[in-house]
Amino acid sequence: MCRVRRSLAIAVLHVTCRDGSKNESAGHGNIVALQRGVFQIISNTNPKLDRLAVGQILLNSLNTHVPTMKLDAPDVVQTSSYDEIDQLQIDAVRAHARRLGRPLSILEAGCGQRWTLDLSGVEYTLTGVDLDPVALELRKTKARDLDVAIIGDLCSVELPEASFDVVFSSFVLEHVPRADVALQNFVQWLRPGGLLILRLPERDTARGFLTRVVPHGVHVLFYRHVLGAKSAGQPGYAPYTTYYHPVIGRARLCRFLGERGVRCLCSFGDGFRREGRGVMRLIVRGVVKLTSALSFGRLSSDYSDLLYIAMKESQTENGRR
Ligand SMILES: C[S@@+](CC[C@H](N)C(=O)[O-])C[C@H]1O[C@@H](n2cnc3c(N)ncnc32)[C@H](O)[C@@H]1O
Repeated sequence: MCRVRRSLAIAVLHVTCRDGSKNESAGHGNIVALQRGVFQIISNTNPKLDRLAVGQILLNSLNTHVPTMKLDAPDVVQTSSYDEIDQLQIDAVRAHARRLGRPLSILEAGCGQRWTLDLSGVEYTLTGVDLDPVALELRKTKARDLDVAIIGDLCSVELPEASFDVVFSSFVLEHVPRADVALQNFVQWLRPGGLLILRLPERDTARGFLTRVVPHGVHVLFYRHVLGAKSAGQPGYAPYTTYYHPVIGRARLCRFLGERGVRCLCSFGDGFRREGRGVMRLIVRGVVKLTSALSFGRLSSDYSDLLYIAMKESQTENGRR
């Protein structure tokens, strides 16, 4: 039996659920415990309820005053679509902009070719850092949305301390051999009270495990022939080599950040949706399920990518940070 933690949300405030049990009442929707610490909010009748409930979780987390830092990883809440995950990131940045009441200074760490957040109506300046000059050039000439563009390594580039309200990094840390150094820099570059938004594949899932053991050349073939990305593997185009430093595993990541004054408020799972099409979709799903079964459930097949929303504490106990 597991109890949904009070800090999660109003939507799930009073819910106690058993692993594998279905349709426990949850106020705005229904909640299913997929496994220990992993929940999915569902509604058979009205998909809008899902968004309401998940959005509520996010906003409650952002607004909850937490006097003491917690180092535990928050439970994973499953979303019902990639659009929903995109929207949650946008909601978080908008809520932060409302709270501060001034233009935001945003760092996109490992910005690549494109910016995925539609922040229309929010005033902000955007700094992009990327190691790949080709990707950055495409970003500058096609998207043309960066106020500052820097070619550099997130582990060594020099940016002023405590200078960003939001540090956003999407599908980057798994490609950084010293992800711990990059993460430490994110913390340093973030202003007190600032928002850290990370999106990355979870290493301890069936898909994360397979990604680590399959050679990079096979990833390139998968992108080209299954996902249909013709330029895959060429300069400026994914897939990039993956390293999966242990610090990016869910529990370690939250502990690492927590010890440095940044608390993981919530994490959202993708519900494992990015699997190709047709027969390939069935094969990939089958391999992932089999891998999960062979690991006796240690490697989850319920999700592969996670969105983390974390916040740097405003002040330390002695008033400095
Ligand atoms: C999979 S792409 C993601 C790009 C973009 N964030 C997105 O979501 O579309 C990974 C990006 O991280 C960049 N990258 C990888 N290691 C890096 C490092 N050490 N420093 C800066 N950028 C890095 C790559 O050049 C690439 O543009």
